[in-house]
Amino acid sequence: MKIVSVIGARPQFIKAAAVSRVLRSTPGLQEVLVHTGQHYDENMSDIFFRQLDIPKPDHNLEVGSGSHAYQTGMMLKGIEDVLIKEKPDYTLVYGDTNSTIAGALAATKLHIPVAHVEAGLRSFNRLMPEEINRIVTDRISDLLFAPTLTAITNLKNEGLEKQTVFSGDVMYDSVLFYREMVVSRGDKYRTPGLPASYLLATIHRAENTDNPGNLRNIFFAFSQTGLPVVLPIHPRTARLLKSEVSVPSNVIIIDPVGYLEMLWLTMHAEKVLTDSGGLQKEAYFLDRQCITMRTETEWVETLHDNWNIVTGPDPDKILLAVRSALPTAPRRQDFGDGKSACIIAETLLRSR
Ligand code: UD1
Ligand code: UDP
Repeated sequence: MKIVSVIGARPQFIKAAAVSRVLRSTPGLQEVLVHTGQHYDENMSDIFFRQLDIPKPDHNLEVGSGSHAYQTGMMLKGIEDVLIKEKPDYTLVYGDTNSTIAGALAATKLHIPVAHVEAGLRSFNRLMPEEINRIVTDRISDLLFAPTLTAITNLKNEGLEKQTVFSGDVMYDSVLFYREMVVSRGDKYRTPGLPASYLLATIHRAENTDNPGNLRNIFFAFSQTGLPVVLPIHPRTARLLKSEVSVPSNVIIIDPVGYLEMLWLTMHAEKVLTDSGGLQKEAYFLDRQCITMRTETEWVETLHDNWNIVTGPDPDKILLAVRSALPTAPRRQDFGDGKSACIIAETLLRSR
């Protein structure tokens, strides 16, 4: 059975690392990897392939950056050419980026079945480009791999339960697999020159970067935390630093880091502040309290007992959360058992 996997953005490399490893060791499955080129800087792309041992893509479309329509349109054309050539039995797409919707749409128009990993996530905020990508991708997919029970409920509410399979979260698979590697190698993945005690932050969501007021509020909150704030900077946010915000002296900006360095940074942070989807979960999996600088979260399972506090870009709420007590209640097992990739591989084989 031939599967074409379509990936293109940083979080998809991390998800695909877990799934590709299992697909390629499952007899009867053959994977062809397509990189759309949505992310292309060495530290947004190649570093993950090297570090996580992801096979070299069979096709790199090198689409690069652009408006939503330009980027998605270029991907559609490139993916269609690959699918016509490869004639797969299934196309596998991940998450909610423009690479996801392009892969799903190109395949379904060629009558090639589509499987969506991380299906059923909803913010119920249609101003988010990712929400549109999720809704459309789920609607046109043939197999929906839901990471949580909330995702299953969302899919049921949209009449999509027949296609839905609970897989658990492939990012949990990745954390369990690579955490051991990071812990066993001591300080190998420690970013040099950083203070022992720090808050870890990331910002890249359109609602924060496209709105200078939100970005300024977030940086103002950082300036008041009383701790160093380590910020591996997404290129989207880096572009705005000089023109839109001035960086407070306690904020330590570093280039984007590899996944293993990011796990190290997360494990050793006092708290995590982010608008990332993936990092909210990783903070939870690694026992760190998360402060989510968005007005809602799709990952509602992380909210219990203040493990994740949703603040939006509001400085008062961010600072209240930074100063709040750390959670003491145990985390729950809502994201599967770390074997999501096996469930995905077995389900694909059975669907033949
Ligand atoms: C994309 C996804 C978002 C995901 C994020 C993960 C969409 C609509 N958005 O957002 O869901 O959370 O990836 O990181 O698909 N750039 C570079 N180098 C790169 C990549 C991007 O400089 O390697 C810059 C370009 O100026 C580009 C901007 O970052 O215009 C935004 O990149 P893009 O891929 O369009 O969106 P992200 O914000 O990365
Ligand atoms: N990440 C990383 N290096 C960084 C910042 C993030 O490896 O400098 C990882 C992070 O650990 C998580 C993933 O990238 O696994 C999240 O991706 P991102 O925040 O870009 O996108 P989102 O999850 O919001 O779609």
